[in-house]
Amino acid sequence: MTMSMHAARSNSTWKNAVVYQIYPWTFSEDSARDPQLGHGSIKGIEERLPYIESLGANAIWLSPFYPSPMVDGGYDISDFRNVHPALGTLEDFDSLVKSAHERHIRLMVDFIPNHSSDKHEWFEKSRRREDGYDDWYIWHPGHKDEYGNNHPPNNWASVFSIPHRKAREHGEMSWLRDDEWTPPISAWKWDDVREEFYMHSFAVEQPDLNWSNPYVREAMKDAMRFWLDRGVDGFRVDAVNHIGKNMELLDEEVNTAYNEAWYENPYDQLLKHQSCNYPQTLHEYVWEMCQVLKDEAYEERDLRMILEAYMGESDLRDIDAIAPEVASTFNFGGLLASWDANSRKIQMDYYYERLLRDAVANQVNGNHDKSRLVARLGDNGARVAAVLNLFLPGMRFIYNGEELGLDDADVPPWRLQDPNGLRDPERTPMPWDETQPNVGFSRADPGDLWLPTNSADAYKSVMRQKQHEKSSLSLYKAAIRLCHELPAAMTGGYVPLRTDSDQVLAYGREDDETGDKLVVLVNFTRNKQASVKVLDSHFVIGGVILSSANVEQANRRVDLRAGVTLDSDEAIVIKKI
Ligand code: GLC
Repeated sequence: MTMSMHAARSNSTWKNAVVYQIYPWTFSEDSARDPQLGHGSIKGIEERLPYIESLGANAIWLSPFYPSPMVDGGYDISDFRNVHPALGTLEDFDSLVKSAHERHIRLMVDFIPNHSSDKHEWFEKSRRREDGYDDWYIWHPGHKDEYGNNHPPNNWASVFSIPHRKAREHGEMSWLRDDEWTPPISAWKWDDVREEFYMHSFAVEQPDLNWSNPYVREAMKDAMRFWLDRGVDGFRVDAVNHIGKNMELLDEEVNTAYNEAWYENPYDQLLKHQSCNYPQTLHEYVWEMCQVLKDEAYEERDLRMILEAYMGESDLRDIDAIAPEVASTFNFGGLLASWDANSRKIQMDYYYERLLRDAVANQVNGNHDKSRLVARLGDNGARVAAVLNLFLPGMRFIYNGEELGLDDADVPPWRLQDPNGLRDPERTPMPWDETQPNVGFSRADPGDLWLPTNSADAYKSVMRQKQHEKSSLSLYKAAIRLCHELPAAMTGGYVPLRTDSDQVLAYGREDDETGDKLVVLVNFTRNKQASVKVLDSHFVIGGVILSSANVEQANRRVDLRAGVTLDSDEAIVIKKI
């Protein structure tokens, strides 16, 4: 049996990053703001830096904080170079960067290249054909039929097509036959001002920028430099696959595998080869963005981009090859794989096997677009998933509240903010202290909060969990502390391992220099203890240093070849003695 090890070869300090994602509107309002507005603020984040530091995170990804009409939770930006006045000022932002750096916490900001808000001055100028802004967006006169009606230039659809499905469920769209699929929402919207269609991959209020226009590309790269010059350490790049389009505007093919019963989103009845994911332009534009980070001016800084793209694995690997020293795509494979030992093993082995020299890996358990980890896996499952991901090599992302084991909230329909009516349950305010008004998030009137607090989860507040050594927060802290202390967890390569049980997943970490070794064992069985042998372990006798169930372990001694007993739904970390 040969055992291959995939070393983490990159020199980037990001390879040890624990990145804490902050959704600014519901994270924390600074205590001094008077009157309180009911949503988070930049100063509020600065106030909570000691918390982020105590968690052990050494980087932050800040979701959009830019001026925005807030149609899509801030992903509809009306000025790429400013702070939303309701969240604070550029001075507040500078102060946040400075304070974070003083604590050795790096800051990545969300960067949204594909679209702006329809309230952005570029769009206002473009729809009026002013000042050379004519083709800053994607315009088309459409096709006139014999009755003089205008039709969109092609069948391209909006990602945000779920409202159509909901409308049909509510009895609208009665003209559709029972056996007909619900049509997606067109990506084209007629504009009465310019009397042409414009393209929007997401909401109608988020027109797509025209990346084939070099002036647009320069303006967007200038926006990147604006933030880099203010001290940010990199970007999380939003929906990057959408900037690559075939500007010949060919129709998308229909997805023959589509079945309305399985797919939630009518958008998925089209394959996406033209309206996005178009490699020729996508690769060129990603390369250009990478060059901004590689500029001499930033030579001394370890800048990094993490790119959001929902694409097939081999398409992702092509993007990862563009400039692995500064940019990699998010690894959503683990998040999307089904929750069983075999699927996760196949995904992880494949991912680390294909990792390029100089690349920095990453692991994700959730974000502001996904149902919360606990809602997907239950309380114990979420703890298992935390240990599983935290000990893998690379940047590990934690979405704020994940460390508390928060569940999805029941948001009443009249309080919904998401244009899809979908993603609010995972975006409700952080519970800091359940003895305070609004769980310590803000002192505003509860009716004024950006989203309501989740009273069902108030007992999971930071204040309370800090005092319990077996809490979810204590587990995250203990795991992250070990990840920063143990050479195998810091710099060790990924070692794929096999066990004699199809319910128990194993992997190893091994540091060449110190010989430090770890094994992580994960029992996916929900109701059964498992006794498992690690068939090809790179060491035999170890001590259990962490368990997802009990947190601290008194170095229980185990023999990996003879067999190790795990509780149901338990992950353990074993260190070579
Ligand atoms: C990304 C964001 C999501 C947003 C969309 C459009 O997927 O994570 O929240 O709605 O892009 O910007």
